[in-house]
Amino acid sequence: MTADIEQGVRYDARHAAAYDRKIRALIPGYEALHELSAFLLVELLPARASVLVAGSGTGEELTRYADLAPDWRLTGLEPSGEMNARAAERCLVAGVAERVRLVEGKPGETELGERFDAATALLVLHFLPDDGAKAAFLAALAHALEPGGWLLLADWAGERGEPMCERLFRAWRSQQDATRPKPEQVALDFAHLDRNVHPVSPERRIALLAEAGFTVEGEYWRAYGLSALLARKTA
Ligand SMILES: C[S@@+](CC[C@H](N)C(=O)[O-])C[C@H]1O[C@@H](n2cnc3c(N)ncnc32)[C@H](O)[C@@H]1O
Repeated sequence: MTADIEQGVRYDARHAAAYDRKIRALIPGYEALHELSAFLLVELLPARASVLVAGSGTGEELTRYADLAPDWRLTGLEPSGEMNARAAERCLVAGVAERVRLVEGKPGETELGERFDAATALLVLHFLPDDGAKAAFLAALAHALEPGGWLLLADWAGERGEPMCERLFRAWRSQQDATRPKPEQVALDFAHLDRNVHPVSPERRIALLAEAGFTVEGEYWRAYGLSALLARKTA
């Protein structure tokens, strides 16, 4: 990467190397989110289609989609060079590197030169503050899609301070304390979440999507406050 901090979140070489193991321990249902997202895309798209993976990280989505749909053209857009490098390595090992384009950058800031049939943004939006950054990110995704294009969006939906949201954060913390070996690492992770995650209520998320030109078709996965929506670009 160039700068190794994205929205206050470190995705440098050390974090990229540890990411694949760590994200599975931290996010309850990470595997299910990715597996269900992949099969939902298979249901939505024809055999030949183009998919943009925004915030493609270490290539979890890209390798799954390449494996399931050999004729999809896949583009990963990711600001961290180190995460991209790890994704490139995984694509190579999976034998799908020639079908995956990896671009270092962000939606709205990087010209991709094509329109896509679908886009995914899994576990990205909640890192962006609701000060125009979330709206700009979603508008850029809408711009990148063909009319009628699909968006799969997963992030934390719920407002900090609101009783149910705080209850779910506390329950998640207890689950992490009970299932992970290093309590000091869990404490660091939750301090990081408190600082860097900017979730909004489910209603606000739908309003932001509508503003960007999306209609929400429904929710397809949930783990406490983490929730995945299927949305469609309106015309
Ligand atoms: C928690 S990771 C999720 C990665 C992958 N989608 C997954 O599910 O494993 C968040 C990723 O979003 C990237 N990111 C942060 N801000 C972004 C932005 N504005 N546009 C695109 N990606 C961004 C980070 O660099 C990081 O790789």
